[in-house]
Amino acid sequence: VPKLERFHLEDFFCQYEHRPDLINLASSDALPWRIEELVARFPRMATAINTADCRYPNVFDTVLPELLSYYKAPRDVAFLPTSGAAEAIYLSLQAMHCLLPTTAVVGIPKPAYGAFEGISLLLDRPVEHYFYREEQNWQLRTDELTQLAQRCHLLIVNNPHNPTGSVIDSRLLRETADVLAERGGMLIVDEVFRLPDDLDSALGTADNVLVIGSLSKVYGFPGLRFGWVAGPQDIIDRMRTLQQYVTLSISCFAATLGPMLLSNHQAISRHDLLVTNRRVVEEWASANSGLLKTTPTVCGTTVVLQVVTQSESSDLTFERLLADKVLVVPGRRCFDYGYSTWFRLGYGTETDKLIQGLDRIATVLRRT
Ligand SMILES: Cc1ncc(COP(=O)(O)O)c(C=O)c1O
Repeated sequence: VPKLERFHLEDFFCQYEHRPDLINLASSDALPWRIEELVARFPRMATAINTADCRYPNVFDTVLPELLSYYKAPRDVAFLPTSGAAEAIYLSLQAMHCLLPTTAVVGIPKPAYGAFEGISLLLDRPVEHYFYREEQNWQLRTDELTQLAQRCHLLIVNNPHNPTGSVIDSRLLRETADVLAERGGMLIVDEVFRLPDDLDSALGTADNVLVIGSLSKVYGFPGLRFGWVAGPQDIIDRMRTLQQYVTLSISCFAATLGPMLLSNHQAISRHDLLVTNRRVVEEWASANSGLLKTTPTVCGTTVVLQVVTQSESSDLTFERLLADKVLVVPGRRCFDYGYSTWFRLGYGTETDKLIQGLDRIATVLRRT
């Protein structure tokens, strides 16, 4: 019987995300833009918003050219704009489900964004994992990835990876795609945490690669719900059919702003903030090395945070942090639902807030 698992991280955010009294270092979104700020910086966007209408948007003429130029992609790569990467993940898995034999295995990273596993289980797919393990400094074992690619027809990679912030190099991605291609398998690369300045896209790596992106995370537009999936035309066509049954189209607001934001992606990127904040986190971790450690701030917006002097349960640490008004997500509620002691720390907020939140964490941990 297909299982509908609870999405624990989303339940967690429902509970805490909108509490104004907390410094939120749980989120993986970089500082969200305000519309007011946006239209002040880009007057053309103000005009576009004022003159937009609420018909079904002409997505293909307005959005596709901007996606092609964002990736500098060859014309034979097909794109589908989606309501955030979340819809792109759903459509990709559902489209591949229609193409694959029922016994075909989906390979999924662990820990990782809950939709990969949740939707695969809902489709009653056999799932196997490859791991980012604490014992391996939260790094991937490359042989584990390629061996899994030999056993599955669909393999999902999140590059950069949420929550560790680590990256997989392009050579390993190509090798993995090649192994999958031998049995007609596909590689799905979720790049929502990729900034072009940090990392090259996997788009074009091989013919059996689907790439997913969005403006939610490193660009700071989570509520706009503007994402996309790119890949071979025949698979994108299937996703389009599925989308026609589900959401029909991205919203007119996303279709108006999305292409303009893409064409200004350098100017709207949260890259500079993230680079500054990565240094802040590194310095904080090194100044408090007797208390805590984090994964390196390589890419993305998050790190895994571990308490070195763990003398209490992570639930209790979480409660004490909450009492001091700072929010991080316990691993148990963030993709690692068994026994885990780590936390996800998101560092994409304003730098002064981040510093204040990190100070509070260190203060609370010192009190154990
Ligand atoms: C790896 C990953 N992919 C996709 C998403 C969904 O992003 P979006 O807001 O664009 O739907 C998330 C959200 O946290 C994520 O972590």
